[in-house]
Amino acid sequence: MNSLGKSLCRFWHSSIGKKIVVALTGAMLILFLLGHVVGNLLVFAGREAMNDYAEFLLHMMHGTGIWVARIGLLVALVLHIVATVSLVRQNRAARDVDYSCKETVQASKSSRIMIWSGLTVLAFVIFHILHFTVRVDSGLANLHDPANPDRHDTFGMVVAGFQNPLVVLFYIVGISLLCSHLSHGIASVFQTLGWRSKKVAGPEKKLGWAIAILLWLGFLSIPVATMMGCLGDPPKIHAAVEEPAKAE
Ligand code: HEM
Repeated sequence: MNSLGKSLCRFWHSSIGKKIVVALTGAMLILFLLGHVVGNLLVFAGREAMNDYAEFLLHMMHGTGIWVARIGLLVALVLHIVATVSLVRQNRAARDVDYSCKETVQASKSSRIMIWSGLTVLAFVIFHILHFTVRVDSGLANLHDPANPDRHDTFGMVVAGFQNPLVVLFYIVGISLLCSHLSHGIASVFQTLGWRSKKVAGPEKKLGWAIAILLWLGFLSIPVATMMGCLGDPPKIHAAVEEPAKAE
């Protein structure tokens, strides 16, 4: 192994190295969420704005942009989970050696909560990707923009996707846990990356809470507004499925 490989190995095997990986990948995922919530709030600007945005994402950089973003997100998510699980194991091993150390017990308690909320969020993300990206429900997959039938009706998909109260409930639980995970996680990013002010303790915690609350309000406003009928009637799904077969 060359010296770069050895340094990377040493970095990964050290506790601080893993914490830095968790912090940097966490920061990447938070940036994605901020972009995603702003993009999604375009539903309130109407069908055309939302579908233009979805089309732009799909075609940016001739269609490669979305794949670069997807692969980057997936790598960040996997590294975030693997490094977190490994840190929890390390903490547990340290706790077994010195069980009398209160701080270690406290740290492992909060990381246990983080790991459970993190795993529930992971289940939510898998459900959400099957729901809106893979579109396992062919009714949602076959919706077409009435003004431009060549493109998918993302706006209609969101409105139709939130007609089921159980789905909305799952989004409320998943997004609430995500935001509780972030309210703790954002402050940890600042702490690990050394951006915490030594003189004034606390602003990074307030910032963490502020970002988490804004994300919570932004994301949940969409299913709640849909359920209240603020985004109009859902598109007729059966009509979209009965599409004439294309000639060979
Ligand atoms: C109610 C709030 C949300 C709405 C309305 C929403 C909407 C959407 C839509 C419409 C897509 C598909 C884009 C497309 O392919 O055209 C999507 C993809 C995605 N969403 Fe969300 N989303 C919400 C919340 C979230 C949350 C909280 C997360 C993260 C925890 C998340 C993570 C993702 C990911 C990772 C993708 C896949 C991106 C891709 O590969 O294209 N979303 N979302």
